[in-house]
Amino acid sequence: MAKKVKMKGVDRISDLPDPILIHILSFLSTIIAARTSILSTRWRNLFTLVSNLNFELDGCISRWENRLRLRKFNSSTIKSFRCFVDRVLSFHGRTNVDKFRLKFRLKRGKCVDSDSACRWISGALMRGVKHLDLNISLDKFTFPDALFTCSSLVTLKLDIVLVLHVPEDIHFPNLETLHLKSVKFFDDNSVKSLFSSCSNLQDVVIENCSMMNVKSFRISHPLLRSLTIIRPCYTSNCWLTIDAPCLSNFKYIIDHLVAGYSLKNLESIVSADIQFLIENVDLQADARHAATIFREIYRVRSLVLSLYSLELLLSCEPFPAFPTLVELETPYDKAEQLMSSTDKGLETLLSHCPELENLAFRQVLFFDVLISLPEEVPSCLSFKVKAIEISNFKEDEDCIRKAKYILENGRALEKLTIRTSICCRFNKLKISQVLFAYPRKSKQCFILIV
Ligand SMILES: *[C@@H]1O[C@H](CO)[C@@H](O)[C@H](O)[C@H]1NC(C)=O
Ligand SMILES: *[C@@H]1O[C@H](CO)[C@@H](O)[C@H](O)[C@H]1NC(C)=O
Ligand SMILES: *[C@@H]1O[C@H](CO)[C@@H](O)[C@H](O)[C@H]1NC(C)=O
Repeated sequence: MAKKVKMKGVDRISDLPDPILIHILSFLSTIIAARTSILSTRWRNLFTLVSNLNFELDGCISRWENRLRLRKFNSSTIKSFRCFVDRVLSFHGRTNVDKFRLKFRLKRGKCVDSDSACRWISGALMRGVKHLDLNISLDKFTFPDALFTCSSLVTLKLDIVLVLHVPEDIHFPNLETLHLKSVKFFDDNSVKSLFSSCSNLQDVVIENCSMMNVKSFRISHPLLRSLTIIRPCYTSNCWLTIDAPCLSNFKYIIDHLVAGYSLKNLESIVSADIQFLIENVDLQADARHAATIFREIYRVRSLVLSLYSLELLLSCEPFPAFPTLVELETPYDKAEQLMSSTDKGLETLLSHCPELENLAFRQVLFFDVLISLPEEVPSCLSFKVKAIEISNFKEDEDCIRKAKYILENGRALEKLTIRTSICCRFNKLKISQVLFAYPRKSKQCFILIV
């Protein structure tokens, strides 16, 4: 007892050995880590030995002091941030930097100057940085030349509005992860030299990037495993080429058309998320493009489709088959509108996916896209489908009829989840009464109504 009381005042953290303290500090924003230097002489230089540097102008201040917000930064705050980063880098000496993250998003006119940013990035590159993460807003900025020949880089994440002019003689031998957001590719050659210089590339994310100056956006890589392209901005005469024999995850969110696709060697894709979003509706043209993609990814096991993607899939002639598809999901998105309806949709879909086990749907599909029930029960529904989830379910004759159809035919069904729409919360009980009492083909089927 007496011992416990005594322990109360002990500073257990300071009992830890230096390497552990340094490790703990490496999880903090560098500004916070630096504050520990006032604790005692032992702590004074510990934070300079941390190999992760994380400088954040909005997060650290507004989160920890909860006073300043982005727009309130005045020139003296910015100046002290600048001095702070410079000081840390000079204290840091030649210690290797593992991760370097720089984040500041300021309104125009209130900027950290480009020279400082360039100097800090060069500092990180000189110290053999492996993971570089820059989320910054700058008026005029060009990368230090050393960036493009940095052999230590494993991860490069950029969220910067700038024109990415990639020189020809660049080399990223160890780069595995490349995430680009909001950059504008200078021209075709920039795209080409960027991807051809990364011999180890495995994970690529291209989000909100402009390809207005690019005629052929080509990603051809033997090792690439994961590719995400989100809302690219291209002209209608841009071609998108993907050739990636190892690609296993593919996410593509697009809201307007490119000239066309050339897709090759995509048989390894096991999981795909294809979201065509409606911009200028041209169902036929969109369907032609979607068909090119669906035919190439026919070996997927898991497929996520936006509502419009599903409509496009249903209008493909002939309908692409998915012989290995196990999971199909159309997530709920309030903003999506329906463009068309297909009478035999449900039948077509299920009969082309013989291995389907999990289905997650929205009620609107059952209502408006997949209107009628199949005349002949598709074999996957009889023998394979284990889980079905219907969201936004309404207490409505048609919906109930379809739920009953699932129950009376799903031999392998283990779980039917029904998520009621807001307007039907009160009728949950009624839905439950009807469905719970209805005979089920599958003995182990569990119905969940939420
Ligand atoms: C800048 O903002 C800080 C923090 O709100 C404040 O302490 C300081 O007085 C301001 N300086 C000027 C010049 O407005
Ligand atoms: C960059 O910072 C902004 C503002 O905090 C944030 O919304 C955005 O997601 C960040 N970008 C990345 C790629 O994390
Ligand atoms: C997308 O990129 C443009 C610049 O090309 C930028 O102005 C805009 O803020 C970015 N949007 C998002 C959501 O990041």
